[in-house]
Amino acid sequence: MKKVLLIDDDQNILTTLQIHLEDAGITVLLAENGKKGLELFEREKPEIVFLDLKLPDIDGLEVLDDIILSGTKVYVVIITAYATIDTAVQAIKMGAFDYLPKPFTPEQITHHMQMIAKVHGLESEVETLKDRLKGIVREGDFITKSRKVHKILKMARQVADSDASVMISGESGTGKGVLAGLIHAWSPRNIGPFITVNCAGLQENLLESDLFGHVKGAFTGAVRNKKGKLELTDGGTVFLDEVSEMSSSVQSKLLHFLQHKEFEKLGDTQMIGVDVRIIAATNRDLDELVQEGLFRQDLLFRLNVVELYLPPLRERPEDISLIAEHYLSKFARANHKPIKEIGGQALDALKTYPWPGNIRELINVIERGIILSTKDRLMLKDLPPHIINYKSKTASKAKMQTLVEAEKSHINEVLLHTESIEEAARVLGIDPATLWRKRKKYQID
Ligand SMILES: Nc1ncnc2c1ncn2[C@@H]1O[C@H](COP(=O)(O)OP(=O)(O)OP(=O)(O)O)[C@@H](O)[C@H]1O
Ligand SMILES: [Mg+2]
Repeated sequence: MKKVLLIDDDQNILTTLQIHLEDAGITVLLAENGKKGLELFEREKPEIVFLDLKLPDIDGLEVLDDIILSGTKVYVVIITAYATIDTAVQAIKMGAFDYLPKPFTPEQITHHMQMIAKVHGLESEVETLKDRLKGIVREGDFITKSRKVHKILKMARQVADSDASVMISGESGTGKGVLAGLIHAWSPRNIGPFITVNCAGLQENLLESDLFGHVKGAFTGAVRNKKGKLELTDGGTVFLDEVSEMSSSVQSKLLHFLQHKEFEKLGDTQMIGVDVRIIAATNRDLDELVQEGLFRQDLLFRLNVVELYLPPLRERPEDISLIAEHYLSKFARANHKPIKEIGGQALDALKTYPWPGNIRELINVIERGIILSTKDRLMLKDLPPHIINYKSKTASKAKMQTLVEAEKSHINEVLLHTESIEEAARVLGIDPATLWRKRKKYQID
């Protein structure tokens, strides 16, 4: 609770509150009207808002409404001289935390701040307990309830303490980059830098120079001395992404570094020693590449002292809805949409689809859906056609259906391709009331 926004046109009130809160070490933002208040709210994301109901430009209740609709977790305290119990009650019904009638004393402000801190503490505790009951683990943006991934996280935490090289494998979009960042953050090296080297993005010479640096004249275009990322990361962690794409000359130079903790810049003969931890990631089978002679076995042994495998999303279906809902609320908030949940059919489709692009693909689909959605829940229609069609393809492959199943899926199909209930009813040759009943019966949304 470090940032508070005050929205009031009474300069005295603003100053009194500001001095009192700043003395308590809180950052205070001031707005003398509703418009500025909402702008500051959007930009600065305060945790607490003190809001006057009587503002020169916008009605305070409207400002409150906008704040609540934004979906951001925030405690709003209404301050007003005009606080009849009725408006205060209305404000609290709308989602305000409490109200403070003018005039008030500094002690009253302190009391409100303490109450908010207490409630906030309890609410976070409840959230953590709820997560624990549901088997959910949350590490920043990384969230999972898959037992397989829990084990990986546990191992990652254990190795974070050491300097051992870690190899993270897994398909594209499974979270290798995030996991590497977590290991660094959990390690004693977290005061040092975390720098990524993308081994697939650069040509051989450039990758070598990116990693090890070069001296002036080392190659055409090397017009001045340049430090490499290994040197820049001294004391921290280098993340070698797509490590399989390294050329054999870079591989042998890296092997030398792993064995001796020192390297030469390109074009130089002087050895430089640095203290760097290496985490590598790959979405290819490195053992296979070793067999084919494309990756050095001795280097692989040095890199995968600890191996962490992130399973694809289709092998942890329990994470699909969890991660989808996590990003649903994130994007809904960012796009100011009141979308709170994923409809049953949309969820079925998400669970059926095999997600070759894994979590990255799922995030894109949810973001797109939020942008297209016109309702308060994400519908099947809001998903990309290949995901909707994937569902119907597997459905049509299904064995013989009962009449009831056929009716349900036919109604579904028609609803998907029509704009309104009335139009769908016309196509189906029934009246809209019957269609309503059938939708309810079959739980079609
Ligand atoms: N468990 C998770 N919970 C929430 N978000 C996740 C999770 N795992 C990954 N993500 C998100 O998915 C996206 C892809 O993750 P990341 O870039 O780490 O994957 P990757 O395995 O490194 O992919 P690539 O091989 O393509 O580089 C990122 O936006 C990341 O924040
Ligand atoms: Mg990555």
